[in-house]
Amino acid sequence: MRAVITGATSGLGRDMAVLLSRSGWDLILTGRNEKELEFLKKKLPTDVQTIALDLSEEKAPFRLYKFCQGKRVDLLVNNAGFGAYGPFSDVKLKTELDMISVNVRAVHILTKLFLRDFRRRNHGRILNVASIAGLMTGPLMSTYYATKNYVVRLSLALSEELRREGSNVTVSVLCPGPVRTRFNERAGANFRPSSMTSGEVARYALEQTLEGRKLIVPGTMMKLSAVVTQLVPHTILPGILYEIQSRRGR
Ligand SMILES: NC(=O)c1ccc[n+]([C@@H]2O[C@H](COP(=O)([O-])OP(=O)(O)OC[C@H]3O[C@@H](n4cnc5c(N)ncnc54)[C@H](OP(=O)(O)O)[C@@H]3O)[C@@H](O)[C@H]2O)c1
Repeated sequence: MRAVITGATSGLGRDMAVLLSRSGWDLILTGRNEKELEFLKKKLPTDVQTIALDLSEEKAPFRLYKFCQGKRVDLLVNNAGFGAYGPFSDVKLKTELDMISVNVRAVHILTKLFLRDFRRRNHGRILNVASIAGLMTGPLMSTYYATKNYVVRLSLALSEELRREGSNVTVSVLCPGPVRTRFNERAGANFRPSSMTSGEVARYALEQTLEGRKLIVPGTMMKLSAVVTQLVPHTILPGILYEIQSRRGR
């Protein structure tokens, strides 16, 4: 079995790579940091191939797909992503456009290309890493929340299409709460980590994905938040989130 993981150089992606390799999976790993990719490759017990790519670049998702041609892939994990904290007018447009390219465009392209192959073989799983933010409206991190909403909606829609056609292929979406990784540092935010570690979230996400679960929300508190936010009217939720988010700047 072989998995492709984007954003494998740190945090959740790295932990998923370690867990899968220790369970016998061969891997294709990507991220921008070539040194980290090489370091990880040396540590892992199975066949690991790496390709350093910046997924904000236009051709990068296609280069990754091309790199995977001729290597039978059973699982795609679209994990690479980042956020940026601050009022919409203050955050640099370039940062946001890069974020949309990594969090949305690359996920969209890779999901489409791999899903076509998987459907032809009637075999394969896709895990798209969104966030609990993907179920909410997020003032002071508006673009990040919007990108993750895209990933949630796209993934759930595809999952339903596949279910209707009786396919063995599945698309899962992961919606974790705050996890201690390099995310905060990169986003300039200060979200208090939930009780689950990155390794625990990664393990839970993989188990649920391999079982074909559609929506994966790790941890009881986050499951509760996911339910509660769906009950609050769309016009009221942003006010509550603003109060919470305004305390999360660095
Ligand atoms: N940590 C949290 O609190 C949290 C909560 C919910 C959801 N998430 C989501 O979980 C996913 C993983 O994040 P993490 O928490 O593990 O954070 P992280 O430690 O910062 O890891 C992010 C990964 O994404 C890769 N990446 C970022 N920009 C990239 C680019 N332009 N091109 C290619 N790769 C890029 C990074 O690799 P390079 O730096 O090597 O490029 C890194 O491997 C993200 O999608 C994030 O939105 C995180």
